[in-house]
Amino acid sequence: MTSRLRTGLIAAAVLGAGAVILAQGAAFAAPPATPPGHQPHVPADSLRALGDAVGLRIGTAVDMDALASNPAYRDITANQFSTVTAENAMKWESVEPSPGVYDWGPADQLVAFAQQNGQLVRGHTLVWHNQLPAWLNAALPSMSTEQVRALLKKHIQDEVGHFRGKIWQWDVVNEAFNDDGTWRDTIWLQKLGPGYIADAFRWAHEADPKALLFYNDYNIEFTGPKSNATYSLVQQLQKEGVPIDGVGFQTHLDTQYGLPDLKANLERFAALGLKVAETEVDVRTTLPVTPVEQTAQVGAYVSTLQACLAVRACISYTIWGFGDAYSWVPAVFPGEGAALIYDENLQPKPQYTALQDTLALASGAPGRTGPHR
Ligand code: XIL
Repeated sequence: MTSRLRTGLIAAAVLGAGAVILAQGAAFAAPPATPPGHQPHVPADSLRALGDAVGLRIGTAVDMDALASNPAYRDITANQFSTVTAENAMKWESVEPSPGVYDWGPADQLVAFAQQNGQLVRGHTLVWHNQLPAWLNAALPSMSTEQVRALLKKHIQDEVGHFRGKIWQWDVVNEAFNDDGTWRDTIWLQKLGPGYIADAFRWAHEADPKALLFYNDYNIEFTGPKSNATYSLVQQLQKEGVPIDGVGFQTHLDTQYGLPDLKANLERFAALGLKVAETEVDVRTTLPVTPVEQTAQVGAYVSTLQACLAVRACISYTIWGFGDAYSWVPAVFPGEGAALIYDENLQPKPQYTALQDTLALASGAPGRTGPHR
């Protein structure tokens, strides 16, 4: 066992020990009404039902191919979660495969699925440096500042406008910082300077004034330069009157790095008057998984959920898929995997049971009953 892993395990054990969750008192505006079609058949011990009992939406990223082809995947998506995120279907390369030619098909299917199942949708993501269409990557370098501005505005307003009234939270800007807190050197920064962020939020707000608009990033769960840079950015945006509603903490964890001080970070952003959310939780480890590593994974799931439960402004806890066969991890982190809460055959793992138990324990804590946040 590495010393980092041991530190992570001890922290997990301490956090898991006394599961009394104290909610902060801040009152929030009325939650979105439960959409029509809310399924009466949701199991009482499902994550979504247990989350409902404590006013917290539990979400998953959805792989549209699996949703179409695998009935077990479909059932779990419908029964266990009260919010869904398109894992890829709303990204620029998916929605505009050729210039000016939109394909909303898969994303529309997800929105329809969510409506049928009484779920809310997180829109992901409008401005990012990855998964841009090939035609766009080819065109951008030779475009002028004004052309890029116009193109980005059109993309945001066409997409947000298409889904107007149907998206609960939009990830407007994704991953604008490096880990050392400097601006990530993306094509957007190169062409437009950091002002593209404020513009993106303003354009999105014009296109759907009711959607909650989020900045979303990874590793900001840990206190440090990246989290501090994000904190300064949102303070600056607020000072300028930019319509930002929340910050999304992706929360892609790895057992070898131990646990972040997530609750403290959620709290300091919440103290700015923002909503916060955990948006892409998964906990990867080296394969094959040892019992020690699985214990660390269980601890990490429990502590990330406890952090959200403890902060009233934390309005959703979303995992980045639920079945290990569909996880993005093995393709991106060689030798690692088993990051999700169901195994390769869609059987629940101890990570799933631990989330159930954590939600159930929280429903007994003061301040945790009542409507969604
Ligand atoms: C990932 C998807 O899970 C993969 O299927 C895709 O190939 C690449 O993108 N941060 C994000 C997500 O904001 O959009 C990424 O999703 C994972 C990291």
